Amino acid sequence: MNAIKHYLQFKDFTREEYAYLFERTGWIKDKFKRYEPHHPLFDRTLVMIFEKASTRTRLSFEAGMHQLGGSAIYLNTRDSQLGRGEPVEDAAQVISRMSDAVMIRTFEQSVIERFAENSRVPVINGLTNEYHPCQIMADIYTFIEHRGDIRGKTVAWIGDSNNMCNTWLQAAELLDFNVHVSTPPGYEIEPERAGLYGTNHFEQFADPMEACKGADLVTTDVWTSMGFEAENDERMKAFADWCVDEDMMRVAAKDAVFMHCLPAHRGEEVTAGVIDGPQSVVWDEAENRLHAQKALLEYLVIGRVDS
Ligand code: CP
Ligand code: NVA
Repeated sequence: MNAIKHYLQFKDFTREEYAYLFERTGWIKDKFKRYEPHHPLFDRTLVMIFEKASTRTRLSFEAGMHQLGGSAIYLNTRDSQLGRGEPVEDAAQVISRMSDAVMIRTFEQSVIERFAENSRVPVINGLTNEYHPCQIMADIYTFIEHRGDIRGKTVAWIGDSNNMCNTWLQAAELLDFNVHVSTPPGYEIEPERAGLYGTNHFEQFADPMEACKGADLVTTDVWTSMGFEAENDERMKAFADWCVDEDMMRVAAKDAVFMHCLPAHRGEEVTAGVIDGPQSVVWDEAENRLHAQKALLEYLVIGRVDS
């Protein structure tokens, strides 16, 4: 292990670091909205490695890096040596000698851990089978923007116990809020896989309506994540009752917001009425990927900056 700071899981930062990052995100967003240049990463380079598809993650990292004064290089496993068996450790040695940060979207979490162990520069998790920390950072920033502090609040997670769910659970432990999880039978969360220390920040519900009762934030995600496509048909049947609809939003808190990391499938995990309705903040959520990740890149590459 080296002393470089990486962002591989949500719990890699402390509560205090998140407080700084959320404040910094607001400052960076404000500057962006006023068209004021902010180039702390002038001449710096981010390498982005994608083993899975992406719209938001690629765009927000690439645009974000340009807006910070640096540049971003896109690599994928189809047309680089990464897809032809070059060891992750060797790739990490080489790529990190030519760049200032690396973002990776891949399958197993162990791949980015091996990369990070051999990297001279910070490594960022842009989604693995296990976690999606950049998304949850943006989601929590979005909640704070709309409703204030998330501490003590309740998030209802409806659907698959996937990378998003695991990351919400880690965030709840660290930032002291609660998650009500409702998954179909056979798809329950695995606390160990979620990297949890304890069990007092989440509760499991067989009935999704019960999970939504009184929640301040209702959120869901696709029923079949990337890499699990072979299970799609059986998942379609198993998840049929785990569609976030108007009835679920009605039993949530009066001012509850709805979030979805996107891409969404209307009529599957969420109704059009909810995702396109007045409680949905999904477009702010997507935009905030840009601002939150700019704060993250700045922090990992040059450290804290006074606003
Ligand atoms: N939410 C998210 O990570 O979107 P992409 O898959 O488009 O990057
Ligand atoms: N859980 C989804 C999130 C996509 C952004 C997946 O891993 O495919």
